[in-house]
Amino acid sequence: MTGPLQIVLGTISVLFLIVASVMAYRAVRAMVRIIRTGQPDGTRWGPVKTRLKTTLVESLGHTRMLKWSSIGVAHWFVFVGFYGLFLALVEAFGEVFNPEFHLPIIGNWGIWNLFADIIGTGTILGIIYLIYRRQKDHPRRQGRKSRFAGSNEGRGYFVEFIVATVGVCILLIRALKVSSDLTDAPGWSHPVSGLVAEVLPDSPDLLTVVAFVKIVVSLTWLVVISRILNMGVAWHRFSAFLNIYAKRNADGAPALGPLLPMTSGGKPIDFEDPGEDDVFGRGKIEDFTWKGMLDFTSCTECGRCQSQCPAWNTGKPLSPKMVIMDLRDHLYAKAPYLLGEKTASETAPDYDILKPSDEQVWASGYARIEGTNDAQAHRPLVGAPSRRAGSSTPTSCGAAPTAVPASSSARWTSSTSTTSTTCAATRCSSSRTSPPRPA
Ligand code: HEM
Ligand code: SF4
Repeated sequence: MTGPLQIVLGTISVLFLIVASVMAYRAVRAMVRIIRTGQPDGTRWGPVKTRLKTTLVESLGHTRMLKWSSIGVAHWFVFVGFYGLFLALVEAFGEVFNPEFHLPIIGNWGIWNLFADIIGTGTILGIIYLIYRRQKDHPRRQGRKSRFAGSNEGRGYFVEFIVATVGVCILLIRALKVSSDLTDAPGWSHPVSGLVAEVLPDSPDLLTVVAFVKIVVSLTWLVVISRILNMGVAWHRFSAFLNIYAKRNADGAPALGPLLPMTSGGKPIDFEDPGEDDVFGRGKIEDFTWKGMLDFTSCTECGRCQSQCPAWNTGKPLSPKMVIMDLRDHLYAKAPYLLGEKTASETAPDYDILKPSDEQVWASGYARIEGTNDAQAHRPLVGAPSRRAGSSTPTSCGAAPTAVPASSSARWTSSTSTTSTTCAATRCSSSRTSPPRPA
């Protein structure tokens, strides 16, 4: 069943896979290097068995997510679909070359097919519900009360679009296999796709095209997130597991109770006789531990913290979500400096001339890590961060700022906000007035 259509689309798919894999590898390597610049915290690894158990229970059981039950259920299907139907993506690479292709051993197995049908359908329904909830809870309807107030909605739409399209493709491929009589799986194993098959033609070529669309959409997601390391709503699919594993209490108990001892460089500070180099608290991004940096990276901008925050709920300009988002954006903007791949003295003259935008500063940050040159670094980046007031604000010298703006959420309380930042390396300051925002 392999014709010219299959050869052309199959070849494009393989080439795209190679490009996307290289980009993803470089992105993960960069992210690991950045997070490793955090202060040590040796208390997060053991006991391994307890931590593994907590990770399994909290992720597979969605024990925290289910506190907002309907969202938890919808997310569970999307979550299981992503990992559980990874093999459907592998199968699509075979199907694009040969529509008859099925996975070795399990391809025609009833249980696998039933699983794929149910979870595929669950993924579509789950993401439709999450799309609906994002719109229902949207700031345009709820203003400041919205948990999404201040979140990057565009990024949410992007991941929603990708999940929905991939889910529909999975179901269509399965249905086309039935309508084109290309499967030996028992009838009971495709209850939903069997129904869809009734309105589809007998067309192996169409199956190839749908498999191709699935591959292109999945790899486009991979390419985009590889270029946007601070896209927590996408990256949390991977980082959330490590985040749960390394939580403060190995048994998963909430991190309440007494404060932990204050540490510097991973060691408790002796307040009777502090070391000369001891750093008290967090004055700059590199004072956070690697776990703190992983926390920032994993933020989905869901606004659960914001919706519970007494300060936010009494009209004050403090949102835990926006603090985390600003810290994350700032971490990735400053990363090349933390990694020692760029110094402020090198950067200052370039930026003075170029007067970069927030986007460019960030693009520059990432490009530096990747070892690219200035010309590449200053190109604008799709979906680059920091449309929020004051986040990752370039200083007048152009180097990455060190302080988190005091009023990252001020836009929800006043019509304009001014943000001051101090440069890490040159100690110069800049201030910026953001445009009027919704009150
Ligand atoms: C243990 C791992 C995970 C945890 C703890 C977690 C947690 C969360 C949380 C708290 C949200 C915000 C939901 C809301 O209230 O609106 C979210 C959103 C989302 N998650 Fe996960 N997640 C995990 C894994 C995954 C995986 C593997 C996927 C794979 C597709 C995924 C896909 C999504 C999507 C698409 C959204 C955005 C939903 C929207 O449009 O609002 N998550 N996740
Ligand atoms: S920090 Fe707040 S907004 Fe971010 S994932 Fe956690 S609860 Fe959601």
